[in-house]
Amino acid sequence: MTTNETERARSAEAEALRLDAADPGHRHLFHVPPADGGRYPDSAYLAGNSLGLQPRATRTELLADLDAWSRLGVEGHLEAERPWLPYHELLTAPAARLVGALPTETVVMNSLTVNLHLLMVSFYRPAGERTRIVIEDTAFPSDSYAVRSQARFHGLDPDTAVVRLRPRPGEENLRTEDVTAFLAAEGHTVALVLLGGVNYLTGELMDIPAITAAGRAAGAVVGWDLAHAAGNVPLALHDWDVDFAAWCSYKYLNSGPGALGGVFVHERHHGDDALPRYEGWWSTAAATRFEMTPVSRPPATVEAWQISNPPIFAMGPVRTSLELFDSVGMAALRERSLRLTGYLERLLDEVTVDRPLTVVTPRDPRRRGCQLSVRIGEGSANELTKRLRHEHGVIADAREPDVVRFAPVPLYSTYHDCWRVADALSATVEASS
Ligand SMILES: Cc1ncc(COP(=O)(O)O)c(C=O)c1O
Repeated sequence: MTTNETERARSAEAEALRLDAADPGHRHLFHVPPADGGRYPDSAYLAGNSLGLQPRATRTELLADLDAWSRLGVEGHLEAERPWLPYHELLTAPAARLVGALPTETVVMNSLTVNLHLLMVSFYRPAGERTRIVIEDTAFPSDSYAVRSQARFHGLDPDTAVVRLRPRPGEENLRTEDVTAFLAAEGHTVALVLLGGVNYLTGELMDIPAITAAGRAAGAVVGWDLAHAAGNVPLALHDWDVDFAAWCSYKYLNSGPGALGGVFVHERHHGDDALPRYEGWWSTAAATRFEMTPVSRPPATVEAWQISNPPIFAMGPVRTSLELFDSVGMAALRERSLRLTGYLERLLDEVTVDRPLTVVTPRDPRRRGCQLSVRIGEGSANELTKRLRHEHGVIADAREPDVVRFAPVPLYSTYHDCWRVADALSATVEASS
């Protein structure tokens, strides 16, 4: 580095620290992993879109639930401070607030792909010429596998039953008008639209209300995978008339690896006996659960989609996290997110200008959450993220072959983290001469 470059880097770092002092976020509430390289003790953690950090409160809360089990045994179902029988209800209202739903429309259960399958049992019912499932070409592979296996389950050929929407040639992101035009033209053949609210690869935030309206107007059912949207962007699933949605809690919801997912089913589908659904003892109304009768009496709420009794020690971290979201508020988080990601974008603009790096996430802040995805023109994404981590203590994640994702998470990421990303990229990726 020349003296001038060193001076510029120093003043940019000082600026990041000034911004952190003015707009501090809630990092103190989280465990930040120590750095595995570089000159700072903590890592710059930009991988919250993959696995969120552990809230400090999680351990204490989990231990309290474990204590109840050791003290009470089976009686904990009714006598624990947070009794296990209705424990899942503690999560319902905060989850509903997070996604803009009525409490009767939201339940926390199972994992994301399992929930998508359970929802497709009800909401993917191919008939006549209306057989197709629409996904985005860059859907997360698990979703692609899930819908293809659903098509096969119904005796259909997945190669023709699953439609993969692609961006226009030379573009990185889907345009809303192209999705709605497709639905207007071919919607009569579509049974289900199942898109990611925020695309896992590009970070694009879809226009959920517009696409939902277009899909429903075409007579299709519209569901959303909100793995990268829940806790990242404000949502209003009820008002947007979404049919169903599912999300995980291990990314922006910081509830730990493999954490339980959430489900939304719009109230217009509640109590509809014509809808096929898989059932177990948690599908029957709570008041009838111990009548030990052979026939269920499901409630007219989303809880009819539950099957098994919930894993309490997996629910604890989700409860803790949702309380945190309630106390900070999604609107405030989104405001900080716009500031942080806008700042990272400005820094990346400077770094990418003379390097083989391109930000592929939409530039319009209304069309993205906190994540910025960078396509690398040379070398492997895995190799680059390894170097960022071991040489600079920057944790990002790679999606092979050529995308590296950076997610400044508004709860705990800092401006200094963003500065470290740009600094590390400029040191690691050679500028073209
Ligand atoms: C968009 C999306 N859908 C589905 C999944 C799969 O989730 P799970 O393994 O919890 O079923 C992931 C996991 O990262 C994801 O990002």
